[in-house]
Amino acid sequence: MGVEAADWRTDLQSVLLTEDSIKARVEELGRQLASDYSGQHPLVVGVLKGSVIFLSDLIRAMGIPLEIDLVCVTSYGQCATSSGKITLLKDLSADVKGRHVLLVEDIIDSGVTVARLADLLRKREPASLRVCSLLSKPARRAVACEPDYLGFEIPDEFVVGYGLDYAERYRWLPYVAVLKPEAYI
Ligand code: IMP
Ligand code: MG
Repeated sequence: MGVEAADWRTDLQSVLLTEDSIKARVEELGRQLASDYSGQHPLVVGVLKGSVIFLSDLIRAMGIPLEIDLVCVTSYGQCATSSGKITLLKDLSADVKGRHVLLVEDIIDSGVTVARLADLLRKREPASLRVCSLLSKPARRAVACEPDYLGFEIPDEFVVGYGLDYAERYRWLPYVAVLKPEAYI
């Protein structure tokens, strides 16, 4: 085992959202979505890779017939200008025209990723398009972008776990933790 694997705990500052609190909130969101999308057979689109844990818990909490699809994007939005662009590394497999689409993200930070992805999907004429994000950092918003469904609003700190990574690490944590600034600066 390498040093990194043995010492991962020392990079975490605190647990921000426990496994139980995430589970309870995901169940609430699932109930709300099940009611809002009842009879609509929505196309639930996860954004790779950060949303996969949330997506898999959320669709089971919804418990209604639906379809899933995945997109993978890279964002150049970190320097936070409204002209931020995204590149689609993997497009949807499904045709969204006429479908009720629910875009599922791990976190809305600057807002660039979701805003651009929503613009792109809207051009394909879905019957409806809504966004569900596990987390949001409103203090960091650079473009107008608010989710229709939100798990938790969090402070401006870098978090990992429950799908969210730092350099591809920590996605597997069952809770959301704040990463110590010295671990990434
Ligand atoms: P945005 O385009 O600035 O809204 O950022 C969206 C992406 O940045 C997310 O999908 C995450 O991959 C990443 N991101 C932003 N903040 C965090 C964080 O605190 N932890 C882990 N990833 C983050
Ligand atoms: Mg990421």
